[in-house]
Amino acid sequence: MLIRKAANILPSEITPEQHYLNRRRFMQSAAVAGTGLLLGSNTSAQDIPKQYRRFGNLLKSPLSTSETPNSYEDITSYNNFYEFGTGKEDPAENSAAFQPKPWQVTIGGEAEQTGTFDYDDIVGPHPMEERIYRLRCVEAWSMVVPWVGFPLGDLIKRMKPTSKAKFVAFETIVRKSEMPGQRSRVLRWPYIEGLTIAEAMHPLTIRATGVYGAELPNQNGAPLRLIVPWKYGFKSIKSIVRISFTEKQPPTSWNLSAPGEYGFYANVNPAVDHPRWSQKRERVIGANLFAGKKPTLPFNGYGDQVASLYSGLDLTRNF
Ligand code: MTE
Repeated sequence: MLIRKAANILPSEITPEQHYLNRRRFMQSAAVAGTGLLLGSNTSAQDIPKQYRRFGNLLKSPLSTSETPNSYEDITSYNNFYEFGTGKEDPAENSAAFQPKPWQVTIGGEAEQTGTFDYDDIVGPHPMEERIYRLRCVEAWSMVVPWVGFPLGDLIKRMKPTSKAKFVAFETIVRKSEMPGQRSRVLRWPYIEGLTIAEAMHPLTIRATGVYGAELPNQNGAPLRLIVPWKYGFKSIKSIVRISFTEKQPPTSWNLSAPGEYGFYANVNPAVDHPRWSQKRERVIGANLFAGKKPTLPFNGYGDQVASLYSGLDLTRNF
């Protein structure tokens, strides 16, 4: 039997649903109750604060889903970013002092091109794309987000990993003065994540720099984060300062915190329940409160593209 440490209890379990849906969203949901409408199609350029630089000439990606994106407000006000607190509204409320500029990323380990690079050197040469992806959180909710980014594989190729590089490890910045959540021990800091090299090179895996055509707000992982759309959201690590190529499977934050609950692979899988709740269905953020939960798809709907990465692997054991 699992011993539940306070740190492992997710806020969604202890907070009644109405409390973490903010009041405005609750009112909107109530207003469209019964119509089955998804909110979000009504986000316009004016909804994006002026302080965020717009990316020009975005390439529309053929890998985007045709589903309607969530509103800018949903995407930027209902977040998980424990460095700013464990509540869904904490990242938006507590991240204003965080300075994502200037930014540097250190690349290390098994690669020919290692060292510390400025944001522009990492992002500069890559054409930016708009990628509309489904984001399925391990807490059984989901959103659709129009990210701005570029394939992580393009960056990896430039770094020329050696034949020993079997995994890629990622690390979020530690800056206690600007990240109040890091003063608590809810997780070990820095937040760390990892992928196999094949997952990192997969065309669906991106480094995101923006949302809705503009720079990422702090609460969404400014200035650079990972997006791996077929995995639970916790793999999509935010505000990355270090990328290392490794021979061995790297440790990951949630696996260190609760190894029986969060594995290394973390592929979205409705057939494998979390020990404390079902993964068969998901609550769609922004949908009206009476819409009910939607069935979760294997690999979050990206099975045709990624299932072959795991042939021969028992996904019940390698969860
Ligand atoms: N990255 C860091 N550094 N810290 C976090 O707490 N939370 C993860 C992931 N990346 C997290 C993180 C989880 S659980 C999810 S669901 C997604 O970020 C949420 O991304 P969003 O807030 O942009 O929707």
